[in-house]
Amino acid sequence: MTDSTQTLPVPEAVGKLYDRLTLTALNDGTFNPNIHIGFWDTPDSTATLEEAVDRLTDVLIERLLVDDSAHVLDLGCGVGGPGIRVARETGARVTGISISQEQVKTANRLAAEAGLADRAEFRHADAMKLPFEDGTFDAVMALESIIHMPDREQVLTEVARVLRPGGRLVLTDVFERAPRKAVTHPSIEKFCRNFMVTLADADDYVAMLHRAGLRLRGLLDITEHTMQRTFTELARPTAGAERPEALGQTNLPDLFRPSDMVGVDEFGCLLVAAVRP
Ligand SMILES: C[S@@+](CC[C@H](N)C(=O)[O-])C[C@H]1O[C@@H](n2cnc3c(N)ncnc32)[C@H](O)[C@@H]1O
Repeated sequence: MTDSTQTLPVPEAVGKLYDRLTLTALNDGTFNPNIHIGFWDTPDSTATLEEAVDRLTDVLIERLLVDDSAHVLDLGCGVGGPGIRVARETGARVTGISISQEQVKTANRLAAEAGLADRAEFRHADAMKLPFEDGTFDAVMALESIIHMPDREQVLTEVARVLRPGGRLVLTDVFERAPRKAVTHPSIEKFCRNFMVTLADADDYVAMLHRAGLRLRGLLDITEHTMQRTFTELARPTAGAERPEALGQTNLPDLFRPSDMVGVDEFGCLLVAAVRP
């Protein structure tokens, strides 16, 4: 369930945002194969943002429990960084989908360049209506993608349908850490508006998984490992993310910059694992 006061993302518009972001990054030399936050194991970890971003993919891999016999769906695959890493680290076959055509093109190119085109393949599709038969996948990963989808419960119902019995789902999501205030922090509100994101209702997550036909295997608030450090790193001038055009925002009256989120510790991240019974 999503707070009814939040504006629901429109998949086609989200696709255009990521088309823009991909082309800008390819043109200005800031391209990164991963589009998600970092994970630092300890507060004094010296890992760079780049290392921490891969570490978050590895945190997901540890929970996916797949090997080279598995077929994994990467739901909202970005430009393929995480999916290619899963294919390389586990030997699993990965099919990724994104609502952005430019991302799909780039992800397939990166898979070919990595010599993994036979194990990692990307296509354009909307997660709200997956173009796969029932029970196709052994596991589904959704790294920072359900945040853009207009109906979490519908997406999870689709995930349950395409998973085989016993198949696992691992995802990350964003939420406002309790106690939820009457007025959302203006930086969170701006982030959600500019990047077409809604906040999950953390209190309803377990019930929502049940309604979708999934059973909880783990639900962790990983905010302390991820959010503040990521925004602090991105706010450094050398990261280049403070530039208005860097994050794909155009024609917006009030641009979001990573420094807006420094110190806003109510913006939280959840790591969720579930299984299809
Ligand atoms: C923040 S990016 C994360 C990308 C990737 N998981 C990563 O970690 O690098 C969000 C991704 O979700 C995808 N996405 C958002 N809404 C979608 C939808 N309705 N169907 C398919 N993909 C969607 C976007 O196209 C984008 O690839």
